[in-house]
Amino acid sequence: MKKILFVVGSTRRQSFNRQVADYVCELLQSRAEVSCLDYADVPFVNQDIEFPAPESVIRVREAVKAADALWVFTPEYNYSYPGLVKNLFDWLSRPLTAGDYETPTPIREKRVALTGIGGAGKTSKCREKLAELLTFIGAEVAEPSLGLRVDMAAWGTNQLTLDEEQKAQLAEQADSFLGLL
Ligand SMILES: Cc1cc2nc3c(=O)[nH]c(=O)nc-3n(C[C@H](O)[C@H](O)[C@H](O)COP(=O)(O)O)c2cc1C
Repeated sequence: MKKILFVVGSTRRQSFNRQVADYVCELLQSRAEVSCLDYADVPFVNQDIEFPAPESVIRVREAVKAADALWVFTPEYNYSYPGLVKNLFDWLSRPLTAGDYETPTPIREKRVALTGIGGAGKTSKCREKLAELLTFIGAEVAEPSLGLRVDMAAWGTNQLTLDEEQKAQLAEQADSFLGLL
């Protein structure tokens, strides 16, 4: 079974993006081995602490390397992706040893699916910019990405309800992504 590593771009306790990731995890049950990347402890990129890399960065690199693919679930922050997500991919873009730009980074040629849930724009600006970043650092972004809108009631309750159309869209994205692996 293929290993898919989920990356959730929000650390909010009741994150809608985490709720979508949980739904997709169920959807993939028995068709893929899913795990969720724990990266909240990764420090801000700073070239002063790159070599040797911090423990958390080593752990994240190993998790990415071991995965056949990544699936990012992220909110949109001000028409872009959250700084947390940028910081993670900035680390993953960097050489493992000082000055070694030949050895591929763990993110290089990794297939990545993108899903985002947010307001009326369905995270389109975030996904557009994130696809650009990921392509720049050598990942292979699976098209099309998927944008979803949070249902009105959930803004008050923090309990997301996906409608049938959204569930069908996620099922289609899952089938198509698995088909690429
Ligand atoms: C700093 C900040 C900027 C935001 N900008 C946007 C935005 O550009 N587009 C959007 O749809 N929602 C925006 N939102 C609202 C988020 O969609 C909302 O907070 C959502 O719950 C975040 O995802 P999460 O539930 O997975 O944490 C923003 C929220 C924050 C905190």
